[in-house]
Amino acid sequence: MHAVLPLRESAPHIVFAGIGKTYAGAGAPALADISFTIGRGERFGIIGRSGAGKSTLLRTINMLERPDTGHVRIDGTDIGLLDENGLVTLRRRIGMIFQHFNLLSAKTVFDNVALPLRVAGVPRHEIAVRVMELLDLVGLTDKARAYPVMQSGGQKQRVGIARALVHRPEILLCDEATSALDPETTEQILALLRDINQRLGLTVVLITHDMAVISEACDRVLVLDHGHVIEHGPVWKVFAEPHAEATIALLRPLRHRMAAVPDTTRQETAHRAAANG
Ligand SMILES: Nc1ncnc2c1ncn2[C@@H]1O[C@H](COP(=O)(O)OP(=O)(O)OP(=O)(O)O)[C@@H](O)[C@H]1O
Ligand SMILES: [Mg+2]
Repeated sequence: MHAVLPLRESAPHIVFAGIGKTYAGAGAPALADISFTIGRGERFGIIGRSGAGKSTLLRTINMLERPDTGHVRIDGTDIGLLDENGLVTLRRRIGMIFQHFNLLSAKTVFDNVALPLRVAGVPRHEIAVRVMELLDLVGLTDKARAYPVMQSGGQKQRVGIARALVHRPEILLCDEATSALDPETTEQILALLRDINQRLGLTVVLITHDMAVISEACDRVLVLDHGHVIEHGPVWKVFAEPHAEATIALLRPLRHRMAAVPDTTRQETAHRAAANG
């Protein structure tokens, strides 16, 4: 009989080491000496006040922003050292979705999803198969011929998600992806992201101003303030015992909402969070 080998701790998927960034003309740095790691398959949230540096930090993961100091490593590769071809390959491994969906209004749902594959020179028949596969995944099979203007916000974000997944990425970046949606549609999009994270094993990095989204969709969270990491850890822990003033301020709306919820529901939520953490 084979001996059962102990599970090895997997190496971090994304490593940020000493990241600093100051925009030209800005007095204060947008990011200052940021170091942390994100595990493979993790659902990781980034929160902070407006202007804290969240989008800048997220965009270092696909080198849309180049740090002035420090480096970002993905699976051990320092992505700041990649040449143009290396960057194209890297960006195909990383999907991104946005608050305002960024769809082309003159193109159908099918063509919006197909576009990155056409740009990459993928043969027509392969594109058709892949796009229909993705529309099925996001629940839009019957909307392939529709135009974005005919879609609800939730449907547009589903198209955005399908498009972000065309190259079978390992990482999905979400910058305020649910901020333009009502609470019910937000729930549906979060359920879809959860499903994708579990089924495809994607690492999800998510920015939001909605703390309920973090507690629903993330395992760990990092709080940025004026370009500095002020705390990070499992969501249940940071949310239960926030230390920094900025975190407490960010959590205030959620706490007010929780205060209006009966005790039993609160306990269930806490148990669930603890089980997930
Ligand atoms: N292209 C740019 N040129 C100059 N300054 C910039 C640029 N992009 C961002 N900044 C500045 O860098 C800081 C961080 O911006 P960033 O967009 O990362 O913040 P954020 O946390 O995403 O904010 P929000 O929640 O409003 O989206 C801000 O002070 C912003 O004004
Ligand atoms: Mg932003």
